Amino acid sequence: MANRPYQPKDRFFKQAKAEGLRARSAFKIDEIARRFRIFEKGQTVLDMGAAPGGFLQILLDEVGPKGTVVGVDLVPIRPLNRPNVKTAVADVLADDFDALLLALHRGAFDVVVSDLAPKTTGIKDVDEARSIALAGKALEVSATRGRAGGHFVAKLFMGRDFEAFRAELRKLFREVKVVRPEATRGGSMEIYLVGLDRL
Ligand SMILES: C[S@@+](CC[C@H](N)C(=O)[O-])C[C@H]1O[C@@H](n2cnc3c(N)ncnc32)[C@H](O)[C@@H]1O
Repeated sequence: MANRPYQPKDRFFKQAKAEGLRARSAFKIDEIARRFRIFEKGQTVLDMGAAPGGFLQILLDEVGPKGTVVGVDLVPIRPLNRPNVKTAVADVLADDFDALLLALHRGAFDVVVSDLAPKTTGIKDVDEARSIALAGKALEVSATRGRAGGHFVAKLFMGRDFEAFRAELRKLFREVKVVRPEATRGGSMEIYLVGLDRL
């Protein structure tokens, strides 16, 4: 078959359905978890841009019953029926977001994960700028609310600000990796930056 850029019902879609996962994107965080071993039982993890909840399902398994996962998104996340997940509707770019996050969880996060993505306009520069603004907010949260020695994962649309953003990450983390998970759709510009061991 020709190499089609967009395959709505590809093998990851089918596998997600078969495994009861809410989104095929779950396989992306699963791959990152397996490659970098950044999650552990008992951790507290923040998931920014968490709806519909595919990442959350994987993260809950990673941290186990003694861990906590906090998920925020512009749109409501259907209940996951697990005692150790907190979700909230929030705009991460809003002025009151930091206060809302503090109300959800007061302690430091072991890992800050962001799968935040803007609604795309099709205008490359606009979409890239919005993507970097969202990833930048996630990085700010990691700097202010993540614990030293903790980790960071953020999605980004690859564009001309990519190198500058990676340079910012290198100031804050001992090691920075770039990942394009297998489950990424063909033709997609997205990549994930992984910051290991926050300084
Ligand atoms: C690719 S989806 C996340 C999928 C999710 N990781 C999963 O596995 O189910 C990106 C999400 O970012 C959210 N988002 C975009 N801008 C946001 C903002 N300013 N504040 C909060 N969430 C935002 C969207 O509502 C959308 O649900």
